[in-house]
Amino acid sequence: MNRPVEEWASLVPMEDDAPTAFLDVRDLRIHFPTDDGLVKSVDGLSFTLERGRTLGIVGESGSGKSVTSLGILGLHKGQHARISGQVWLDGEELVGASPEHVRRLRGKKMAMIFQDPLSAMHPFYKVGDQIVEAYRVHNEVSKKQARKHAIDMLGRVGIPQPSERVDDYPHQFSGGMRQRAMIAMALSCDPELLIADEPTTALDVTVQAQILDLVRELQSEFNSAVMVITHDLGVVAELADDILVMYAGKAVEQGSARELFTAAEHPYTWGLLSSMPRLDRDRQDRLVPIAGSPPSLINVPEGCAFHPRCRFCELSAPRSLTEVPVMTETSPGHRVACHLEPAERRRLWAEEVQPLL
Ligand SMILES: Nc1ncnc2c1ncn2[C@@H]1O[C@H](COP(=O)(O)OP(=O)(O)OP(=O)(O)O)[C@@H](O)[C@H]1O
Ligand code: SF4
Ligand SMILES: [Mg+2]
Repeated sequence: MNRPVEEWASLVPMEDDAPTAFLDVRDLRIHFPTDDGLVKSVDGLSFTLERGRTLGIVGESGSGKSVTSLGILGLHKGQHARISGQVWLDGEELVGASPEHVRRLRGKKMAMIFQDPLSAMHPFYKVGDQIVEAYRVHNEVSKKQARKHAIDMLGRVGIPQPSERVDDYPHQFSGGMRQRAMIAMALSCDPELLIADEPTTALDVTVQAQILDLVRELQSEFNSAVMVITHDLGVVAELADDILVMYAGKAVEQGSARELFTAAEHPYTWGLLSSMPRLDRDRQDRLVPIAGSPPSLINVPEGCAFHPRCRFCELSAPRSLTEVPVMTETSPGHRVACHLEPAERRRLWAEEVQPLL
């Protein structure tokens, strides 16, 4: 029987769980056994990201942001980490893939701008040579062509006199220039997924703004999917389409950047928003930033991990003390993990939180 291909295809049952997003992270868990106990750095994280979009992952120090990004890149293998869940990138599952396969994808398909440029660059090799090496691993080109490409990339990220600076060592670059050089290295193979982990910490405000502009520019040119990881909501306000807020290895709120800045629903997100610097307002008129410090990931509090620090814990007790809240959709594309009723959360936001931000 002659049928058009589409018709044959429609006869094949669709797998329920076939990923449709470019990056689809499902129930990712990354735990590290240590002498003191099991560190649950990432504990059941799920999110998706499309090409051309930017996702901001936000949370205080130790919430599991870097472990998540290194996990997606397959960089925890061999570290005795216990990893489960799925990471689908462009239809390929990476948690179960061989380390060699994931290594081949790194650089070409996905790349990372690290928190500390010195940790990503070898101090004894010239900056240009390191970009050349990264480029030649994935592209069959001569050294001369690769060097030309490295100079081009250094120029594109705003390094002055790139044809001379290409022969400098990392320590001859300023902090901002090293960050740029690392971006050049990460982008040299046009990765489809770019993860930028705290791309601006330790940089002064002007350089921060330039780096953020650069990531934005390069993204629109390559249509890459970008994950920006930061503890600073101000950074993602500038860059991100969507935001995922992490607390103690879990997502607590997720939605469009617009939604999170205008109608956040999780008390922890409220705390982060109130910690953002504001030049137009006196400190005493504002909400108190989050009291206390993040929990140890070996002994995460029972129930809602945020409850010991939450101003609204009593309103959700006793559930918040015993039952882990799960991410639940509160409006299309906006999910929250909190036991308060959605109407109550919206009331608190409108009456008690937003007026003081
Ligand atoms: N290899 C490892 N072995 C044991 N614990 C680890 C390991 N790597 C990370 N951790 C722990 O996992 C937790 C999450 O770390 P992670 O680096 O992801 O935090 P982060 O959110 O990136 O914080 P920061 O904002 O400070 O960069 C921390 O408690 C950290 O000590
Ligand atoms: S569940 Fe309760 S303790 Fe946790 S964030 Fe919501 S209100 Fe606060
Ligand atoms: Mg980190």
